[in-house]
Amino acid sequence: MSAYDQRRLFASLGERLIYRAETGSTNDEALDFAKQGAEGGLVILAGRQRAGRGRRGAEWFCGENAGLAFSVLLRPALARPLWPRLALVAGLAVARAIERMGGLAEVKWPNDVLMGGKKVCGILVESEMDAVVVGIGINVGEVALPPRLASQATSLESELVRGPSREDVLLEVVAELDSLAQLAVTDFRAIIEMLRSRCALSGRRVSYLAAGERRVARCRGLGEGGELLIESGGRMEKLVQADEIRPLT
Ligand code: BTN
Repeated sequence: MSAYDQRRLFASLGERLIYRAETGSTNDEALDFAKQGAEGGLVILAGRQRAGRGRRGAEWFCGENAGLAFSVLLRPALARPLWPRLALVAGLAVARAIERMGGLAEVKWPNDVLMGGKKVCGILVESEMDAVVVGIGINVGEVALPPRLASQATSLESELVRGPSREDVLLEVVAELDSLAQLAVTDFRAIIEMLRSRCALSGRRVSYLAAGERRVARCRGLGEGGELLIESGGRMEKLVQADEIRPLT
């Protein structure tokens, strides 16, 4: 496994970065640091994760030399009921970082990032007392994925004219996350506006799981609090949580 250019990363992120050549999960490490009282802004970066976790207990595949896996510990100045907003903020931060690198990205509510309709980044947000851990996995290089995932996933290297290094991607995303997490406290409306123009589901028929049941509805965009607005049988509804959401048409 090739190492990161740690000198460059430490020069930019300084004491905020902890690099592990190998770890179980960067989210688990960040949650442990949170328990020990570490300050907000800490970034845990892994060369390789032995037990990378996705949402709903799924495994997170991180291609050797190709995947970027890191977690950022935040101590948000936001009331706890508003913490789910940080998942939206994280997706937006990755989408904007990709745009800065010359690509086009969309956010599939709540926080998957897509390029060309395929997933390029997954985000797992967890909390520990008054800390929030934002775990981000990005397919930077081309990934050898299990066949069932291959048609649904892509990488920055496949989608961008010039594939960036993992260091570039990390620095861009952390810079975006820093500024957007602050903006989320002072002007969440601005965050929603930025998400609306990048919403992969707006106007589309979507299928999703809610209360253990699969449903189909038309997505009408995002509400002021970051909810997904959906229309079904002539009725509008605000979805605050749903699993396995996917566009149908
Ligand atoms: C998902 O799409 O289901 C979320 C995937 C999140 C993966 C990242 S990789 C860095 C961090 N550490 C983990 O164990 N998971 C997250």
